[in-house]
Amino acid sequence: MALLRLEDVTKVFRTGLFGGQEIRAVEDVTMEVKEGEIVSLVGESGSGKTTIARMILRFYRPTKGRIYYKGRDVWRLRGDEVKWYYSEVQGIFQDPYSSFNPIHRVERILYKTLHHFHPSLGGRGVEERIREAIERVGLHPGDVLGKYPHQLSGGQLQRLSIARALLVEPSLIIADEPVSMLDASTRIDVLNIFADLRDKEGLSVLMIGHDILLANYVSDRVVVLYKGNIVEEGPAKPVFVNPLHPYTGMLLESIPRLDKKWEKRLEEKAEEEEYTAYRLKGCRFAPRCPAARKICFEAKPPTLKLEERSVACWIYSDYGEKS
Ligand SMILES: Nc1ncnc2c1ncn2[C@@H]1O[C@H](COP(=O)(O)OP(=O)(O)OP(=O)(O)O)[C@@H](O)[C@H]1O
Ligand SMILES: [Mg+2]
Repeated sequence: MALLRLEDVTKVFRTGLFGGQEIRAVEDVTMEVKEGEIVSLVGESGSGKTTIARMILRFYRPTKGRIYYKGRDVWRLRGDEVKWYYSEVQGIFQDPYSSFNPIHRVERILYKTLHHFHPSLGGRGVEERIREAIERVGLHPGDVLGKYPHQLSGGQLQRLSIARALLVEPSLIIADEPVSMLDASTRIDVLNIFADLRDKEGLSVLMIGHDILLANYVSDRVVVLYKGNIVEEGPAKPVFVNPLHPYTGMLLESIPRLDKKWEKRLEEKAEEEEYTAYRLKGCRFAPRCPAARKICFEAKPPTLKLEERSVACWIYSDYGEKS
């Protein structure tokens, strides 16, 4: 059984004056995270990654579909079950500066989390657990204890937010762009912390990001999202070496050219097409796809299973097993 399973999860936002504009930010997403694996969810800005993270973490209720953790419907948990859920599933977010209370010192911040989940723990037990969590993320307690968040670097803070999550001893971490605000040299170090925890302790991670190169580096499986739809999914290496969906191909091709200017253009283009794409009957990627045919604009592509991978694209409609 999968640790986490999303089944046909959809989130519709109503925006604009009188809620007249409808955005299907996430559409019929079915995916899993198994025990001891790192799954990367990749896609450009606005593809629905954070919305998925927020639904898993019970911040947004899905408009449709179900989310199961250890076989239990996450949105039907009540009272103590909710506390149990957060002791199993922890979130880490992009901006480490905003995830800490600036008026408390590091030890107080960590103590509060520990106390919430393990109220009976006291004295030396607390101190030991806090030191241990700090060391697990590659920091020296002496460097961070006694300091306020603003006295630490972004990399140190992001490590501390992982340490705080680890204090709770979760089985699953939902990490929403945990390294995108860090500089390139610390990114790999922080990603390695997750890989180590997976290897040594069997931790599972849903790692969200837009960099498919980093996703390939750290994860066992990759799920590619385009405007709320999963377009491709499979083990990281084959997806990276031989992308099946034209969008995955485009993400990979863009790597060497991914300078600021190009990235900006990609974002502008995505914005321009945002509302049109949401209104399309067919594949949402069709307006940008070099391989688009008539059918792509008319009907949603079926999701096809090709060995251990799946792809939602009309190119492959003659092959594979329809799911
Ligand atoms: N609370 C909200 N109300 C209305 N629309 C929203 C809300 N949250 C997200 N959206 C819309 O849903 C879509 C998906 O947003 P989301 O934040 O999930 O994307 P993302 O993949 O996390 O992007 P990024 O890489 O920029 O973080 C976007 O079009 C966004 O404008
Ligand atoms: Mg996001």
